[in-house]
Amino acid sequence: MDNKEISQAVISRLPRYFRYLGELKNEGIERISSQELSDIMKVTASQIRQDFNNFGGFGQQGYGYKVEYLYEEIGRILGLDKTHNLIIIGAGNLGQALANYMNFERRGFLFQGIFDNNPKLFGTRIRNMVVRPMEEMESFIKENKIDIAVLTIPKASALAVAERLVKCGIKGIWNFAHVDLNVPDKIQVENVHLSDSLMKLIYNVNSVDDEWE
Ligand code: NAI
Repeated sequence: MDNKEISQAVISRLPRYFRYLGELKNEGIERISSQELSDIMKVTASQIRQDFNNFGGFGQQGYGYKVEYLYEEIGRILGLDKTHNLIIIGAGNLGQALANYMNFERRGFLFQGIFDNNPKLFGTRIRNMVVRPMEEMESFIKENKIDIAVLTIPKASALAVAERLVKCGIKGIWNFAHVDLNVPDKIQVENVHLSDSLMKLIYNVNSVDDEWE
């Protein structure tokens, strides 16, 4: 199925379904109705059915969904049945934290290399990788079939680095730099701003405070 036909809103909900179903599977639960899934996930049952209908429905009406099947199918739709080779650009606090997070590998996201432009960091070992100079980035991407780059560098250099990444055929950029990258449409970019999530939390905390006053 061509996932381009599926709305981004549906796609953005799939990882959450996948996570919950993984937990249910680990608890040994074999079947679940859309109503039960709705209660656990705090999403309406009709939303769940609508979302799943985009992919053919997955379940037998009135009989519930097979948890393991659904988990595997959603994983397959998300591309988690394949491995992906990633590199990190920027071996500072954030780059190192991501490199050290082991759970990514369980999902098939394999960090193959980490790059920086600070000579003091070259050769430093971060888990199973050594920090390499930026001059080696292009050849490394080609030799190691890297599809995804993680940008954890300041915004001042992010645009130029993104341009280099595009030229060597990278398919996706997980962008933590606080700048919108100007890349061709065929390159997928996912911007992450932790502070957006924090601001939303603060807004909600303040709204609740206002209600109490
Ligand atoms: P950091 O200063 O610890 O690390 C940045 C690293 O990038 C340094 O090692 C530096 O040498 C390297 N670098 C700078 N220019 C480079 C270039 N042109 N090529 C290769 N490497 C280069 O900073 P930290 O805390 O790791 O944050 C990294 C960036 O991510 C910052 O710009 C920060 O604003 C941003 N950030 C974004 C977050 C988000 O939620 N999107 C959260 C935290 C940080």
